[in-house]
Formats: sequence, structure tokens, C-alpha cells
Amino acid sequence: MNKNSVPYKKMVLVCTNIKEDLTKPCCGRKNGDEILTRLRDKVRESNLSDVIRVSKAGCLGKCSYGPNIMVFPEGTWYSEVKIEDIEEIIDDITRVND
Ligand code: FES
Repeated sequence: MNKNSVPYKKMVLVCTNIKEDLTKPCCGRKNGDEILTRLRDKVRESNLSDVIRVSKAGCLGKCSYGPNIMVFPEGTWYSEVKIEDIEEIIDDITRVND
């Protein structure tokens, strides 16, 4: 085993979980994948991939409020995220070099 420091300054977890039960809410059916892709693309375009990791996450436990995104180390929780909210989230998370 190796034990090292985390190589990123920020970790962005985007829930893309899809529940088989169509009667239950889930982020995957509310644009979770598109939100993930757009955030990843923007981080890449900003040349911040080495410091910000945007990862696909399974259920974060707050399905009714999805799509959900958690950001560390800030501890910010974005919920009910819409495509039009992405620019604001990107502005928030790319402030890593301030
Ligand atoms: S499905 Fe996204 S929080 Fe549960």
C-alpha cells in the first residue's frame, strides 16, 4: 500500500445515479450525466484538470433534491441543479487559484 496526499485541491462529486424504480426520483433522469459532462469539459478547457477532479458519483442520499453535487473541501452542496446553473457552479469551483 502507498499512502500519499490527495493530488487535487478540489473534488466535485456529481450524482448520475439512475434508479430502476421509475416512481422514485433520481439525479440520472434529471440531466445528471449532462451536468457531469459540462462541468468536466469546462474544467478541462480552463486547464484545471490537475487541481480539480470532477467525478461521477452514485447516489448521494438526497434523491428528492437532485440533481445533487458535492464540492470539497468547501463542503458546498448544490441541489436541484439545472443546466442553466452550470455557469455559476463553474465560476464557484474554478476559483481554486484565487
Ligand atoms: S439519485 Fe442522486 S442523490 Fe440519490
